[in-house]
Amino acid sequence: MTARFYVTTPIYYVNGAPHIGHAYTSIAADVVARFHRLSGHDVFFLTGTDEHGQKVEQAAQAADVAPKEFVDAISANFRDMADAMAISYDDFIRTTEPRHIKSAQALWQKVADSGAIYLGAYEGWYALRDECFYSEDELVAGPDGTKRAPTGAPVEWVKEPSYFFRLSDYQDKLLELYETHPEFLGPNSANRELVSFVKQGLRDLSVSRTSFKWGIPVPGDDAHVMYVWFDALANYLSALDYPNTDAPRAAFWPANLHLVGKDIARFHAVYWPAFLMAAGLEVPRKVFANGWWTVEGEKMSKSLGNVIDPRDLVQEFGLDAVRFFLLREVPFGGDSDLSRKSLIMRNNVELANDLGNLCQRTLSLVARNCDGIIPERRELTEEDSKLLGQVAVLPNLMASQIERCALTDALEDVWKVIRAGNAYIDHQAPWALRKTDVERMKDVLRVLLDTLRGIATVLQPFMPQSMDRMLTQLGVETAERSFAALDVILPAGRTLPAPQGIFPRYVEQAPE
Ligand code: MSP
Repeated sequence: MTARFYVTTPIYYVNGAPHIGHAYTSIAADVVARFHRLSGHDVFFLTGTDEHGQKVEQAAQAADVAPKEFVDAISANFRDMADAMAISYDDFIRTTEPRHIKSAQALWQKVADSGAIYLGAYEGWYALRDECFYSEDELVAGPDGTKRAPTGAPVEWVKEPSYFFRLSDYQDKLLELYETHPEFLGPNSANRELVSFVKQGLRDLSVSRTSFKWGIPVPGDDAHVMYVWFDALANYLSALDYPNTDAPRAAFWPANLHLVGKDIARFHAVYWPAFLMAAGLEVPRKVFANGWWTVEGEKMSKSLGNVIDPRDLVQEFGLDAVRFFLLREVPFGGDSDLSRKSLIMRNNVELANDLGNLCQRTLSLVARNCDGIIPERRELTEEDSKLLGQVAVLPNLMASQIERCALTDALEDVWKVIRAGNAYIDHQAPWALRKTDVERMKDVLRVLLDTLRGIATVLQPFMPQSMDRMLTQLGVETAERSFAALDVILPAGRTLPAPQGIFPRYVEQAPE
């Protein structure tokens, strides 16, 4: 049976335009989804928008637009961003869709039926910006001396009737989950933080609000709308048509991977598994928290005017250079800074020089000296076998990196082979062999073509558009681009198209 793989991005709040931070998690999830598809797995990749809650309601009011009209427009903008970044989602869920509302209410009912929800009154701190309740001891002093959430968000004192979820009952079960499944939450820094948060003791969680209307009504009590995080987390099930266990997608539960930003790890690794346990459902296999981006050393903010729309970067640098940079710059899971200088450097050094030149040199030698025809694969020298051996292990090597969300390490594995390929071409010097030993020159070029095919195949998840072009130039048919297809070498005799550069060098324009 084909292995199933279910991967999700967070669903994005529709209170503003998408920026590079949003694109980041989606690109990472896209790489994982594409990698599993190429491995022959049955993949379901979900993204979407989180459209309820007080924050969105207020943003709509500020824009003087009805909430539905407001969320329709911004959700469409997020979908456009996903398409522009070549995010290969299988479904785009919106929490205002009837299918989601129905599922979220079914989940609530199931949790309530287990006795884990009771009616009380909430009195305490709430940070609207985080849509999160905080206890007094979590608060810090802001620059103006006022109380702030640990994230820096302003807090307000809230007092209203509320349904509560018995989170305190789940402390031991959660700690047991973390202990028996250390891979459940990554990276280690997020894991340590969460374990200590849970060990400090969990209070029951307020899961409904009565002071505004823009949300999903609590089943059986219309005066309450669900807490936006209960509503939002349910999206991972509503896209599978929960609670219909006969639905074709139902078999994708439990999710294999929820990719999230580090700021929302708590919701995914504490609240979400507790809700699921209460509902008698399996918990996800893994939650992985990525770090945050700053821009030229500064936090992105509207007031600084440095919020970067990923589509603008793509316009300037090309999609794959941007996708590559974001995943290459810092080990996945850590924080990082986006600077023009390093983006240009990565593009020029690693894409244009290392990979682009290796490909261009090989293909132009084949065009000039072999009439553009793929030469025969003949007996291999020790050096040939060594390089091809490094290529052959890449899919498995990368699969184990991707399993632990070490996306940057997976890229580094490929770059080691690219560097080895460059050392090989320099050492073999096929341009010189042309005059001394034409047969050996052809053998060397064949080894290089096979090496490049392996490299381009495993890089498809990271840079889908340019690797598509590279594989076409290497004479690899669409049906020959999976990992399994690498077991069969290309037949000799195919004519290759005229070589064209894949990664242009970026030259900074002089200011006018
Ligand atoms: N709606 C919730 C998620 C619900 S999931 C059931 C939410 N939305 S969000 O739009 O505020 O954030 C979505 C994601 O964007 C989060 O994973 C967050 O970490 C990420 N980022 C927002 N700004 C970011 C950076 N500057 N850098 C990296 N990621 C950042 O939270």
